[in-house]
Amino acid sequence: MQRVRQPTPQDFDRVLSSMCTEPHPRAHEAAVEFLATNPGDPATYQTVADLEQEAVDTLGEITGLDDPFGYVTSGGTEANIQAVHAARNRADADSDAPGSDEHNIVAPTSVHFSVNKAAEMLGVELRTVPVDDDYRADLDAVEAAVDDDTALVIGVAGSTEYGRVDAIPAMTEIAHDASARMHVDASWGGFILPFTDYEWSFADAPIDSMAIDPHKFGQAPVPAGGLLARERATVDALAVDTPYLESTSQATLTGTRSGAGVAGAVAAMDELWPAGYRQQYRDQQANAEFLARELAVRGIDVVEPTLPLVTASLSTATFEALRDEEWRIARTAAGELRVVCMPHVSRASLEAFLADLDRVRS
Ligand SMILES: Cc1ncc(COP(=O)(O)O)c(C=O)c1O
Repeated sequence: MQRVRQPTPQDFDRVLSSMCTEPHPRAHEAAVEFLATNPGDPATYQTVADLEQEAVDTLGEITGLDDPFGYVTSGGTEANIQAVHAARNRADADSDAPGSDEHNIVAPTSVHFSVNKAAEMLGVELRTVPVDDDYRADLDAVEAAVDDDTALVIGVAGSTEYGRVDAIPAMTEIAHDASARMHVDASWGGFILPFTDYEWSFADAPIDSMAIDPHKFGQAPVPAGGLLARERATVDALAVDTPYLESTSQATLTGTRSGAGVAGAVAAMDELWPAGYRQQYRDQQANAEFLARELAVRGIDVVEPTLPLVTASLSTATFEALRDEEWRIARTAAGELRVVCMPHVSRASLEAFLADLDRVRS
């Protein structure tokens, strides 16, 4: 007789490297309920289509945009790809000779690798510019890189490796002066930045589009990312006709997609925006500062955590020994340890991590 094996997912206790987290219990329930719905065909699956509009409206509220356009993507990767896609199509439509232009996009080296995917697939040149001493886009370099063929400038609000926020208003001015559009990647930072003094949102600068992921700090189940746009034309630039569906057009990169992400995102945001997210930000920023302090006391070089993400120098031997202890940790491109204080990361688990660190170093 064949044995039935029901695997269980790993728990989050020792996961310090991920930008995903445990979904809020209400979000989990809602996701299960809507698992078999398809927001890719909104005329047929109308309930989940209404929920998707709710999700976009709440994401607009979080990011300072009164009348938002967009949709729930599969994650930050899709949101970034579609932002580049829309900007390229719009630049092409704006040009005197549509179809014949070569477009480029400008972004700091700190930009997420999803932008490399976008550039490659969409046939646009990616011009990466250096970051300054604080890992933020160097504005002089951005200014020097843009030209008449620049379709989009991308700034990061909460960078993947150091949790830094680029000077979004200044970058937007550079982009718009060059007749380019401005996209902000707040995939990771979007649910914590509202509680900081950073200028990053649609209310802080006339940015054109944004990536913000409920499945990261928003505590929605995977897959739930978000693409937001100030103008309807951005989403329209992505739309294709869909003859065999009840709906007539589709602006998403994926076709059929589960309603789980949409319903989970709405439930998580209903539960947590804004008080729950504010508390989460405070707790995790305090955890990041605690970890940074404790590492520094041990003589380890630490990059100051301006958002809940700690980067520190650690020898390869120590790093590997901690991985052998089942800690799920990762490194930056420069080889530093990177710990992301996501909602599942407790003070107790950081203390256990430090105890293991002391043991493997002794
Ligand atoms: C800043 C940033 N943008 C985009 C992404 C890609 O998001 P996803 O993995 O959900 O596609 C990440 C992933 O960590 C990220 O940190």
